[in-house]
Amino acid sequence: MIEVDGLTKFYGQKAAIEEVSFEVAKGEVVGFLGPNGAGKTTTMRILACFMPPTSGTARLAGLDIGKQSLEVRRRIGYLPESVPLYGDMTVRQYLTFAAEAKGVPRPERSGRVAGVMERCLIADVQERLIRNLSKGYRQRVGLAQALVGDPEVLILDEPTLGLDPKQIIEIRSLIRDMRGERTVILSTHILPEVSMVCQRVIIINDGRIVAVDTPENLNLRLQKSSRILLEVEGPAEDVRRTLAGVKGVLAVTPQEARDGRRRFLVETDREQDLRKDLARAVANSGWGLTELRPVDLTLEDIFIRLVTREEEA
Ligand SMILES: Nc1ncnc2c1ncn2[C@@H]1O[C@H](COP(=O)(O)OP(=O)(O)OP(=O)(O)O)[C@@H](O)[C@H]1O
Ligand SMILES: [Mg+2]
Repeated sequence: MIEVDGLTKFYGQKAAIEEVSFEVAKGEVVGFLGPNGAGKTTTMRILACFMPPTSGTARLAGLDIGKQSLEVRRRIGYLPESVPLYGDMTVRQYLTFAAEAKGVPRPERSGRVAGVMERCLIADVQERLIRNLSKGYRQRVGLAQALVGDPEVLILDEPTLGLDPKQIIEIRSLIRDMRGERTVILSTHILPEVSMVCQRVIIINDGRIVAVDTPENLNLRLQKSSRILLEVEGPAEDVRRTLAGVKGVLAVTPQEARDGRRRFLVETDREQDLRKDLARAVANSGWGLTELRPVDLTLEDIFIRLVTREEEA
């Protein structure tokens, strides 16, 4: 449904994105994840036909962004990073205008507008002038505008930015529920958002794609070691050395002390369960073991690993 092939965009001498390629299947909700300045907005603006690439191509719903840009703009829904709204219109007038621009037939417009206002939680402000709305409400009007043409493909640039916690939950579940119904690509730099909403993640850093996978697979793929947290009452350096000496231990990182107790993060070969060996080593030295538990890698750890690896390369 979305096929992106080798997109590159230069601003002057500097490439904002380079050779970006990926595909999104029909009905999939995909997250476009990356730190500030990674190239998310640049990629999305190109896909939404608001700016041409320097090179490369993309097709959305079978339409070529270079050759059929007007048709792409009419057929897809796009929530830009900063929503350009018409301040002197009321919410309802603006959405009716957007529906017309998207080619919604006149008899269906008012019903369609009422429907998207309901879903985006803005029915209560429909007669207010847009310029008097708070940032969160404007964001939701932008989302309603993206949905009003009932598009097959939705491109959402940071859809939860500026919303309060309750609205974030509601908008996330609205997007999540589009699975199977629309093809969605949404950008974010909030890691938990991706696990909550998306079936796949595309990770971009410094203008290049560094990984494409499901949140679960990324976890597995990158978790070459497993980690165990121990809390030990004993002399820190001796404990560290003893733990590091256990067969199968790859690394030991002392953590911040809490209530005078020392914690150690032990990385081990993931094939082996070293919990008993570690406990025995501590006991044999006569120290107290107050905690021992496995720790999962978070998406945050994975992201840092991916990005670090990319920078080392
Ligand atoms: N109009 C422009 N002129 C020059 N450089 C630009 C322009 N727009 C973006 N850039 C640069 O391109 C790179 C990618 O920017 P982009 O806005 O796509 O990142 P982003 O991933 O959306 O970041 P954020 O999370 O901050 O929104 C950045 O280095 C940015 O400084
Ligand atoms: Mg951006």
